[in-house]
Amino acid sequence: MSHPSITRRRVFVMDAAALAPDELHPVSVAGRELVLCTVEGQLCAFDDACPHMNWPLSYGFLEDGVVYCSLHMASFDPCSGRCLGPPADRSLTLYEVEEDGGALYVIIDEEE
Ligand code: FES
Repeated sequence: MSHPSITRRRVFVMDAAALAPDELHPVSVAGRELVLCTVEGQLCAFDDACPHMNWPLSYGFLEDGVVYCSLHMASFDPCSGRCLGPPADRSLTLYEVEEDGGALYVIIDEEE
């Protein structure tokens, strides 16, 4: 029986200059909806879906390095993905982000 192999793909998402601090920036990458943001200069990317009820986290806001869901106010650390406050009880799904030559890339793992 063969196992699916995983391919890591580096996908351009946006110019680094367009990512404003303290903002949640929704992007579509390889058929996925993600959110990009920076916290104290660290780039973060995660699924644009709250682990509580899948509400888009890009509708929420980023304050003092914490992402808040606008539907029921669950809170998350966007760098570690850790859930910080209810009603969600699961972490965010994170993605690697790289800056290269003024452009931002997200690393996507795809099964083949
Ligand atoms: S859907 Fe995000 S806290 Fe409920």
